[in-house]
Amino acid sequence: MSFTIALAGKGGTGKTTLAALTIRYITETLGESPLGVDADPNSSLGAALGVEYEKAISDMREGVIEKRLDFPAGMSKERYIEYCIEECIIERPRFDLLVMGRPEGPGCYCYVNNLLRKYLDKMSSNYSYIVLDNEAGMEHLSRRTTNRVDLMLVVCEPTVVGVLTAKRILKLTETLPLSIKEKVVILNKVPHSALDKKVQECLHKEGLEPRASFLYDDEIFFASSGGISLLEISKDNATYKALSQFLKEYVPAGGLQATVGS
Ligand SMILES: Nc1ncnc2c1ncn2[C@@H]1O[C@H](COP(=O)(O)OP(=O)(O)OP(=O)(O)O)[C@@H](O)[C@H]1O
Ligand SMILES: [Mg+2]
Repeated sequence: MSFTIALAGKGGTGKTTLAALTIRYITETLGESPLGVDADPNSSLGAALGVEYEKAISDMREGVIEKRLDFPAGMSKERYIEYCIEECIIERPRFDLLVMGRPEGPGCYCYVNNLLRKYLDKMSSNYSYIVLDNEAGMEHLSRRTTNRVDLMLVVCEPTVVGVLTAKRILKLTETLPLSIKEKVVILNKVPHSALDKKVQECLHKEGLEPRASFLYDDEIFFASSGGISLLEISKDNATYKALSQFLKEYVPAGGLQATVGS
């Protein structure tokens, strides 16, 4: 079974950046090939990993579901959609990537989400790790592209509003029929000078204890502004090193197998 890491948080906090660097950590340090799932309709995980994609799961929706196309002989609609999802997997030597894409039109996306969820459950035996990059806010969490999350990273910007949003996201996760084993708050883009006193007070008041804190990092910012993959930035990058240190503590080597029976 896969160890699933999901990222959530307010817009622009660094979810995609940290998802890409987590994928890099899993390949470089744990020596495993994870599945990255870009569940953000704005689809930016591919760019952060230097992967161009042509097909997203949403592309098939209209044709397959709404127009009720004929399915290949002997194939059920469900099996056919599963096959379409498989076709969307982008294979790279060290990781695979699945892009959800943007649902268009007023039609319901639940059907595909439900199938994707089932499919990810199945895929669980093929990957030791799944990294799920989500869109900003909280709404997506209720759409549930997965049943089970082992580690949810709630990425928080170092502002009062950022802290309050992180708190709301944590609260929302309690109301979802989604099993989340561990949730942790991570501060990202922290000023080199210091964390604002008001932010510290707000964290305290809201009872949030960030488990990691990453400083504002020029190399990361310039990589994204220059369209450079985060797989290409220096191995000694301070954020990558700090994230690796954090992941070492929270992500078991060997995926979920390592935690079974422990
Ligand atoms: N530690 C950091 N230091 C400096 N810049 C950062 C850091 N982390 C992320 N960024 C930059 O912040 C911007 C937003 O990051 P990113 O796209 O990862 O956020 P996001 O939470 O995924 O955003 P969205 O909600 O739009 O999906 C990018 O330009 C990225 O390079
Ligand atoms: Mg993003």
